Amino acid sequence: TNRTFTMIKPDAVEAGHTGAIIKMIEEAGFRIVAMKKTKMSSERAGQFYEVHSERPFYASLCEYMSSGAIVPMILEKENAVADFRKLIGATNPANAEEGTIRKLYAKSIEANAIHGSDSDENAQIEGNFFFSRTEQF
Ligand code: GTP
Ligand code: MG
Repeated sequence: TNRTFTMIKPDAVEAGHTGAIIKMIEEAGFRIVAMKKTKMSSERAGQFYEVHSERPFYASLCEYMSSGAIVPMILEKENAVADFRKLIGATNPANAEEGTIRKLYAKSIEANAIHGSDSDENAQIEGNFFFSRTEQF
């Protein structure tokens, strides 16, 4: 098995979809290795999304991601990164497949309900950004 990192984003937490999203994640066969509810400052959101710092939506993204509570999690499953991105659907909910988390719960291309790591390497970096070793079971 391997791991991926996710966080439920402020729009979905605020709308009360945390429980429904966690249920979908567990029913899809992912084991929760670590989880908490927290909030990022815009500086910390900027660090998390550093790879997007040259994109035109970067400032808006950092403001949005620090606008409310988030629920970060480390997840474990065979083929975790690819299978999780399938479960969440396309970045833009307008293009997301039926039954995906973003199709069901995302509000817009920016406020798109949930994050999923795009590689094993980034999954490890992002998981360690939020959780110490002693918080990962
Ligand atoms: P993540 O799982 O959150 O990394 O999404 P992704 O991998 O599907 O998309 P990407 O890494 O390209 O973009 C990161 C995040 O930036 C997205 O999830 C959106 O919240 C936001 N974003 C991406 N593209 C746009 C855009 O064109 N406009 C705006 N406003 N936000 C965007
Ligand atoms: Mg991404």
